[in-house]
Amino acid sequence: MKIFLDTADIDAVAEAAKTGLIAGVTTNPSQVMKSGKRLPEVIKRICAIVSGPVSAQAMAESAEALVEEAMRIQCLAPNVYVKMPMTLEGLRAVRILELERNVRTNVTMIFSPIQAFLAMEAGATLVSIVLSRLDAIAVDSAGLVTDSVNIKRNFGYKSEILAASLKTQNHVLTCLRAGVDIITLPPSLFFQMYEHSLTDSGLAQFKNDWDKLPK
Ligand code: E4P
Repeated sequence: MKIFLDTADIDAVAEAAKTGLIAGVTTNPSQVMKSGKRLPEVIKRICAIVSGPVSAQAMAESAEALVEEAMRIQCLAPNVYVKMPMTLEGLRAVRILELERNVRTNVTMIFSPIQAFLAMEAGATLVSIVLSRLDAIAVDSAGLVTDSVNIKRNFGYKSEILAASLKTQNHVLTCLRAGVDIITLPPSLFFQMYEHSLTDSGLAQFKNDWDKLPK
């Protein structure tokens, strides 16, 4: 399962990328706004750090305007994927971009397996299912995860299932168990995942005993 970072924080991307574990980055307009920088600068700088897919969101409404905007966004770097809204116009734009313009798309704000199916059928390269926003309204996101993976497997869709809006290690475990292709994580969750108190105490004990050995 590939790990992406879900952030527009360039320093956080640079820090996490040092591990060699970051295969891509996803951003959204709220994160770009928080960064205080303009979209082209954020995307170009992240693409200079990470060679895998870097997603940037198109915000137009009609399919024609989305295609135009996507063509502009794609010019920012060779590894840019364009996030499309999960709307009828967004799906129309996905087909045009993927089939006729050689632009890789990532359909976002998917909350049901049926929406995931439509995005796969439209030919999106990435299908972003959004977990914690579902859990926040007392709908178990695990069902969305397993259903989306099963739909992909049952019909042999080429799209990759990208689980987004993960907030806990339990979300990560759900994705691992289901066989999700990609998770995109906030940097704080990425840096929390390697930790375990038993690892700390076990390593401290080894060090303590090692220091007592005659050198
Ligand atoms: C997905 O496309 C979104 O950009 C993002 O992952 C949503 O995360 P959030 O629910 O933490 O805002």
